[in-house]
Amino acid sequence: MMTAFPKRFLFLLAVAAGVASACQHPASQTNSDLQLSPEFIDEQLTGAVAQINVLADSVPADRMPRTFQGDTSVFSNTGWWTSGFYPGSLLYLYEYSGDAELLELAKAKLAILEKEKLNKGTHDLGFMLYCSFGNALRLTGDTAAYKEILLIGAESLSSRYNPVVKAIRSWEGWTYPVIIDNMMNLEFLTQASKLSGDPKYREIAVTHANTTIKNHYRPDYSSYHVIDYNPADGSIVGKKTAQGAFDESAWSRGQAWGLYGYVMMYRETGDGAYLDFAKHIASFILNHPNMPDDRVPYWDFDAPDLDEASPYAAEYKTYRDASTASILASALIELSTQTSGDERRGYITTAEKILQSLSSAPYKAEIGTNGGFILKHSVGSIPHGSEIDVPLTYADYYYVEALIRYKRLLEGQPLLGRTP
Ligand code: GLY
Repeated sequence: MMTAFPKRFLFLLAVAAGVASACQHPASQTNSDLQLSPEFIDEQLTGAVAQINVLADSVPADRMPRTFQGDTSVFSNTGWWTSGFYPGSLLYLYEYSGDAELLELAKAKLAILEKEKLNKGTHDLGFMLYCSFGNALRLTGDTAAYKEILLIGAESLSSRYNPVVKAIRSWEGWTYPVIIDNMMNLEFLTQASKLSGDPKYREIAVTHANTTIKNHYRPDYSSYHVIDYNPADGSIVGKKTAQGAFDESAWSRGQAWGLYGYVMMYRETGDGAYLDFAKHIASFILNHPNMPDDRVPYWDFDAPDLDEASPYAAEYKTYRDASTASILASALIELSTQTSGDERRGYITTAEKILQSLSSAPYKAEIGTNGGFILKHSVGSIPHGSEIDVPLTYADYYYVEALIRYKRLLEGQPLLGRTP
């Protein structure tokens, strides 16, 4: 456990203190409509490096950080769906800082995570293995170390695909549940096809994405959380929620997962139908009457309107979810690169507003507090009474990813850096 601030933390704090904190910025050289300054982005990333070093000092060798609740750090085993985010964040921050210690910390976590490549009991292998090993391969180019692990993992994920349903099974239980979150695991498959030369992974990703357009979305382009299928004929058994306020509500993180997923699918396939769909989802989210001014969504877009009959009305109407905001920021930055004119400006302006909000109180934690997590005020699952108004490892991961993406925009670099 951490007993004192490590030396590297004090050094980084000094660097951070020396960085100008100007938030609004005149036109950058490469992107004249970007409003956040390089200094602002550097300040946030330097702070994130300092904070992840605080977190690193508390993490047991065989565990992954998950959250911090009531002054207690909560860790998970590597089989938990969030296990890839901490090594992924270490790798992004290694990419930013060049600090080889962060790479070593990441590699130590990759070593305990590797066994999940054989895990056929979860659909979350994209989160677990691509955010971690995918970034490791991207940054080190070490195919000998990482390619086989990724391909074995992609094979495990593909084992959950049913050609009758035309989708990957998310959970056990239910009948054949597919959740909107599963869009996020498809990038792992498109990359596996590139790595292996075998198109089958990409074909599963495309088919799953098309099935999700057909069955998960309502006419207003909001998404159900869970579609439960009959695996014998692919018919729909039920359209439900698990983590939202009610079955017909728009659970916020699910809307963000969907947006990110279709932006990514357009990048991976060049199919304009995915871009059109992503724009419709973005329009639902950004024009929602319950979108707060600071652009950090409530945990469910329908939460503020809950009436007394809802079990969540009394206590949870106004809880925000910083994890949704982080995912949105990262997705909108990429969507801005796929669009032009007023559309592009709308997306990037919202991403900038989110980054400004998350980079300040009440969302941004003081360095050395919050158990070493960067952001406060996320929600795991209110219906399950789990991780309510706490830091979450994936909120930090997508916040750091968004900052790095924005930095690349400022520098006129390819948004994703080098791909594996
Ligand atoms: N994939 C689980 C969640 O978003 O909470």
